[in-house]
Amino acid sequence: MSLTKVVKDLKGRLDGKVCIITGGGSGIGFEASVLFAREGADVVVADINLKAAEATIERIKDKTGPIHVRKHAIALKCDVSKEAEVKKLVEDTLKEFGKLDVMFNNAGVWFGCKYAIEAIRRGGKGGSIINTASFVGLMGAATPQIAYTASKGAVIALSRELAVCHARENIRVNAICPGPLRTPLLMNYLNTDEKISRRLVHVPLGRFGEPIEIANAALFLASDESSYITGIEFKVDGGLTAAYVTPEEPGTSLPPKNFFKPSEGTS
Ligand SMILES: NC(=O)c1ccc[n+]([C@@H]2O[C@H](COP(=O)([O-])OP(=O)(O)OC[C@H]3O[C@@H](n4cnc5c(N)ncnc54)[C@H](O)[C@@H]3O)[C@@H](O)[C@H]2O)c1
Repeated sequence: MSLTKVVKDLKGRLDGKVCIITGGGSGIGFEASVLFAREGADVVVADINLKAAEATIERIKDKTGPIHVRKHAIALKCDVSKEAEVKKLVEDTLKEFGKLDVMFNNAGVWFGCKYAIEAIRRGGKGGSIINTASFVGLMGAATPQIAYTASKGAVIALSRELAVCHARENIRVNAICPGPLRTPLLMNYLNTDEKISRRLVHVPLGRFGEPIEIANAALFLASDESSYITGIEFKVDGGLTAAYVTPEEPGTSLPPKNFFKPSEGTS
């Protein structure tokens, strides 16, 4: 086999794509930033916390990645609740990389969709927008968090409508609905065995999800492998939303490893 063929085969699943990931300094956004870069994307890691975004870039550029990683990754400060900052994020991305193919609105959605759609449209080839919703946008809980739940329901409805509106431009829009994840935020709240088992009894796979499992779903939606998928609610929830009664025996599903190692920092 020739060297050219070997190098060609090493291309990643996002080779040649320019991707913005918001909330890239922690959790799902951190995992997605590292994963997308390893799959050949040029990555803009955006976060309200610039230091956290810069730490993600360090992780992307460390020496452990596969050799096809292009290592074109930049950190930008952006508060996704401020329209002017999101507009600037997209403008700065276009200045740096010349185009936008994928917007992963992992933090915030509306302004991210607005400016990403304009930028992707200018490229004329279409692209992928991924919005992070939640399983709580699909089902109720007796431990209410009403504003959060309503906002996640809105993310699902907004994503569906945008998908239909922009389908003829080949701009795909999908919502990911993660189940409960083993992240510090949730685990600090679920600080007793009783609170944990009250949740896990509803999860057929019998464990909390990992941020990398959501990042893997986002990778699929970002790539051309999902070229015929738009307007969906992509449930990545261990079967939670499919279940009425769950098995009594303990689960055998093992959690995959995240890129983030707690010893490395504050993600
Ligand atoms: N963790 C879960 O169990 C879970 C379940 C379902 C859905 N989600 C959703 O997944 C997404 C990411 O969650 P996570 O668990 O990875 O969170 P996280 O707290 O680990 O990371 C969130 C990141 O977003 C950044 N951020 C916060 N506010 C911002 C703003 N205004 N502008 C820009 N960046 C901002 C933070 O600095 C942080 O780096 C969120 O939309 C969340 O609602 C999480």
